[in-house]
Amino acid sequence: MISHIRQVSLGVPDLTRARDFYEHQWQLDLVGVDDDRVYLGAGCAESYSLRLRSTSEPRVDLLALAVTTPADVDAIAERVARRSDARLVGLPGPRQEPGGGYAVRFHDCDGRTLEVSAGVDQRAYEPLAATDTRPVGISHVVLNTVDIQRSRRFYEDVLGFKVSDWVEDYFCFLRTGPAHHLIAFTSAPHASLNHVAFEVLGIDEFMRATGRMMRNGHPLIWGPGRHGVGDNTFSYFSDPSSGFVMEYTTALQLVDESTWEPQVHASTDQGIDQWGTSNPLDDAVRSSMRGRPDPGLWTPPPV
Ligand SMILES: [Fe+2]
Repeated sequence: MISHIRQVSLGVPDLTRARDFYEHQWQLDLVGVDDDRVYLGAGCAESYSLRLRSTSEPRVDLLALAVTTPADVDAIAERVARRSDARLVGLPGPRQEPGGGYAVRFHDCDGRTLEVSAGVDQRAYEPLAATDTRPVGISHVVLNTVDIQRSRRFYEDVLGFKVSDWVEDYFCFLRTGPAHHLIAFTSAPHASLNHVAFEVLGIDEFMRATGRMMRNGHPLIWGPGRHGVGDNTFSYFSDPSSGFVMEYTTALQLVDESTWEPQVHASTDQGIDQWGTSNPLDDAVRSSMRGRPDPGLWTPPPV
């Protein structure tokens, strides 16, 4: 059973610039530096929430999902091993990253490298005070895919996700618990990262985090607004070192899983932004979130 997104690992061509962005602008906490890697944490007990690694071009190294027990890791590995459209990177075993634990890495049906892990040590962290605008942790990740039905089926069959909602036939929200979505897929010409969303404490903190970024000279790609589907607020910014898109969000809908029925929503202005405060979702916004074809597909990170 997948409980949450543990961390995201990104390859970035300018590690110093990327670290400055995520540590000093996005306000994650530096928790470790190791050779060519930087580990950043949020206001939660995860050993880290974002890993940056120096690479020649931007790539997604890993999307790491937390499961409840080592038996869950083994069960997912067995399901991956039986499929022809996915590939194990290695066998389940001790996790070789800060926090340790037990993990397996594999490529999903688009070639992304995923890690599922259990038994990872928690970190002593500085809890957020009320009004603190630092991120609490990762809320969700949205992925671009060339075949949204294939991706949906893979995440349902191998990882136990359930569909929460669709927007027409091109945006699929997936959950593993009451949070409306941990992962969502959107149709695109290539597989890549659409964005990583970080949770902040509340709407006031969300607006002040958004405003802090704007005052510090970071162009707001899209927002501030509040999505209709999922009900969460959104402000999207771009990491200037890599172009990866990051979101501040809060107030994501919690569904009653005993009664929830997925719906197919039309794409409307109200559905996209119920507040009506964001800039238009135009080609420039879509292009930023589509990103470039990910050179990390079917190529696991060396660490
Ligand atoms: Fe999002």
